[in-house]
Amino acid sequence: MCGIVGAVSERDVQGILLEGLRRLEYRGYDSAGMAVVGSESQIQRAREVGKVAALADAIEANPVAGHMGIAHTRWATHGEPSQQNAHPHMSGDRLAIVHNGIIENYQELRDELKAEGYEFTSQTDTEVVAHLINKHYQADKNLYKAVKTAMTRLRGAYALAVVHSDEPDHMVVSREGSPLVVGVGIGENFIASDQLALLPVTDRFMFLEEGDIADIRKDKIAIEDRDGNAVERSITRFEHASDSADKGEYRHYMLKEIYEQPKVVKATMTGRITDSRVLEQALGTDAAKLLENVRHVQIIACGTSYHAGMVARYWIEELAGVPCSVEVASEFRYRKHVIQQDTLFLCISQSGETADTLAALRQAKKAGFRAALAICNVPGSSLVRESDLVIMTQAGPEIGVASTKAFTTQLVALLLFSVALARHNGLSEEKEAEIVKALHLVPGQVSDVLALDGEIENMSKAFMDKNHSLFLGRGSQYPVAMEGALKLKEISYIHAEAYPAGELKHGPLALVDSEMPVVTVAPNNDLVEKLKSNLEEVRARGGELFVFADKAAGVKAEPGIHVMQLPSVHEITAPIVYTVPLQLLSYHVAVLKGTDVDQPRNLAKSVTVE
Ligand code: M6R
Repeated sequence: MCGIVGAVSERDVQGILLEGLRRLEYRGYDSAGMAVVGSESQIQRAREVGKVAALADAIEANPVAGHMGIAHTRWATHGEPSQQNAHPHMSGDRLAIVHNGIIENYQELRDELKAEGYEFTSQTDTEVVAHLINKHYQADKNLYKAVKTAMTRLRGAYALAVVHSDEPDHMVVSREGSPLVVGVGIGENFIASDQLALLPVTDRFMFLEEGDIADIRKDKIAIEDRDGNAVERSITRFEHASDSADKGEYRHYMLKEIYEQPKVVKATMTGRITDSRVLEQALGTDAAKLLENVRHVQIIACGTSYHAGMVARYWIEELAGVPCSVEVASEFRYRKHVIQQDTLFLCISQSGETADTLAALRQAKKAGFRAALAICNVPGSSLVRESDLVIMTQAGPEIGVASTKAFTTQLVALLLFSVALARHNGLSEEKEAEIVKALHLVPGQVSDVLALDGEIENMSKAFMDKNHSLFLGRGSQYPVAMEGALKLKEISYIHAEAYPAGELKHGPLALVDSEMPVVTVAPNNDLVEKLKSNLEEVRARGGELFVFADKAAGVKAEPGIHVMQLPSVHEITAPIVYTVPLQLLSYHVAVLKGTDVDQPRNLAKSVTVE
């Protein structure tokens, strides 16, 4: 999704902006551009379709040196990926703007501005904003005032950064619905849509809030809230090691992030459990008071985070006996709901900036839920700031578009939450100790699965020339199968569907033949015998099976049934461990197919628009 970087400094900002864009590449984009106010107070602009490297080459050939500039990676919404549609957009030759988000009333504004004589060179909603600000600028030649007035006309979601060559020592930025962070430097200041973009230049950040407008100078940051009050936004330090956003020795971020799982899964439980207990206080000082009265849990999320929520439903209902509903945010936000009394609203999001999830949270806060709990990986994100209670996952920055370590750490956080809730609902000390002991074993078990990487890579060859695949699981392994299917489709572009294995005979069995590989996760649990019967149904139709199974599950390898034995795992923690081979399988299929593993086509890391 689109990315923004900006800098006001003593030094030339080209390098800072380019490095910032490189660090935002993981979000997904189709073109990139930069506008810098030069020493003659003129705006120099470069825009290229494709990778940031193409922009870097263009700038090397024709430098755009200067002390203040804005830059952007665009993910097309209004208008195809093209140089003309790439940001920054200009109105005349003195005002430039970059924008994330979507202006919903852009057509109405475009018609109005056209009637006033403004000419459009792109199909974007952003150019409309550029002209609108320029129009207001004509009134009193004051960029700050012009942006502020223009904001009153904009409907939709946006983060904006605007420069004017007649005011070469400051930029004006604002946000409504899309994230924007101010990076605080010494004698220089920065802005970005994601703090990762600015880590080479600062580790101190101010997060702008909805409706904020800010004047950014090299030695001063002034912020006003939506009511026009001057406000201070607190400065927070970035918590993760600065090399955590580098690929290191790995070929792809996704592989690096898969391999980080033993460490980050452990980090997410560290300090929150003893040998035998979950430390409820570690989930938040108000956790005990809140959980005491919860009678229903409503989970909301998107994509991989939704699958984590689906696993959690099994845990919450089984361990706590508390009813739990799970829904994708984009559906939840557009329907009427019956809210049961004392329902806890639980949002799960890696980024904490997913537009649908945030919209659902904002609705929920008005609708009378008991409280809002967030499980999130990004400190300072909108979700974290707007929730009553937060359990942070400790995955560190996740760069690969395909979510891996975020999912397994979300599961850890959700299991801690489920146990804490269950304790208020009759979970015995023995059972809690059994689960906590099982949790302590998970990092080691994940390492054991990673040791099977070579075998999984070998297995992946069978998928290379296939167009479709089925993923099966039962019980809490069904969402694991869904997650496996999502991984395969998003990075290898092979059509993959997940089914609860018991549903096979109600339709999808018709698809099974030798061209349809069927992947199954089979830990040893109460459902394994039933699962084995489902596998027979596939085998009888000539389907080739790839089974990840506990040795004790007794699934035998034979022609057409490939079995990979996984470590013996407690039934409750099995979803965490059984996810990992599916991640590796997808990864290797994608590498064999030569797709862009870290930035799959058409996708963005952080989906900040609807
Ligand atoms: O940041 P979030 O967890 O809210 O993101 C939700 C989805 O966009 C995300 O999980 C997406 O499905 C991933 N590409 C899956 O790998």
